[in-house]
Amino acid sequence: MKILITGCNGQLGNEMRNVLESHIPGETLYTDIEQLDLTDPKAVEKYVLDNDVTHIVNCAAYTNVDRAEEDKLLCSSINVNAVKNIAMAANQNGAKVIHISTDYVFDGKSNRPYKESDKVNPISQYGTTKRLGETALLALSPESVIIRTAWLYSPYGKNFVKTMLRLGSEQNEIGVVCDQIGTPTYAHDLANAIYTILTAHQWVPGIYHFSDEGACSWYDFTKAIHRIAGITDCVVKPIPSEDYPTAAARPFYSVLDRTRIKSTYGIEIPHWEESLNHCIQRINDNKE
Ligand SMILES: NC(=O)c1ccc[n+]([C@@H]2O[C@H](COP(=O)([O-])OP(=O)(O)OC[C@H]3O[C@@H](n4cnc5c(N)ncnc54)[C@H](OP(=O)(O)O)[C@@H]3O)[C@@H](O)[C@H]2O)c1
Repeated sequence: MKILITGCNGQLGNEMRNVLESHIPGETLYTDIEQLDLTDPKAVEKYVLDNDVTHIVNCAAYTNVDRAEEDKLLCSSINVNAVKNIAMAANQNGAKVIHISTDYVFDGKSNRPYKESDKVNPISQYGTTKRLGETALLALSPESVIIRTAWLYSPYGKNFVKTMLRLGSEQNEIGVVCDQIGTPTYAHDLANAIYTILTAHQWVPGIYHFSDEGACSWYDFTKAIHRIAGITDCVVKPIPSEDYPTAAARPFYSVLDRTRIKSTYGIEIPHWEESLNHCIQRINDNKE
């Protein structure tokens, strides 16, 4: 098995390295744009063939949801064209692909957790390109696994948890959106799930939903972040989305139904608050 992790400097890429190096050290290749620009089809094909890659986990993406509304070409070249390049290179070497997608392929009008078979209807440029990446991959390489995840956070890079920790220490009061419901996902938990799939006895292709267990609003999430971190002198106020305008529209409800990934691969998923505790502990440990 020769695994390639793309986007290794990102949140999920870093957590994939932690998980793989603790279980099967020294067996995986890690690249980000400096080593391998995924938008270059020839470079991707050469890398996969030269290194005889058997599995590709695509953690690379254009993830700035608001900037994507303006930066359409770059967003599309990373979220769609790069995925096609990965699929074609994988086919050349008979490699299997695990690709990551998003809850933002849905419009958020559901009132129950989204199943993999539910109708997609992205309402942002980011969501549209991520959906086009899914369809392109399945057309070129139908044996691939696609995992849609949501509200990803980790000790790495920029994310909601780190922003709320910073704002909690800088400000006396913040307003946080209370009418968008989803599930926070600790990138470490997703990396463990991907490891389970990579090493499973049977490869079962298709689309899967993965987030941590439970559901909450961004407001509930912030209250939990501050409680766990011991931040007591910042008042968190619930506000409606209309009081926090953003360039890209967000789904009001994007809880993912996790039944298929749990039953197919026997994956156990922690509750989001339990994982949040773990992540904040790591962030605090790194400060010391
Ligand atoms: N973050 C979330 O809340 C969230 C929610 C749902 C789904 N997802 C999906 O989960 C996956 C992982 O997200 P993440 O938060 O870990 O992303 P991330 O932290 O933004 O990492 C993505 C990595 O991909 C790299 N990259 C960009 N263009 C590239 C190219 N042309 N070639 C090679 N590498 C390139 C980025 O480099 P630069 O930093 O230099 O651009 C970055 O290191 C993505 O598919 C994302 O769409 C994320």
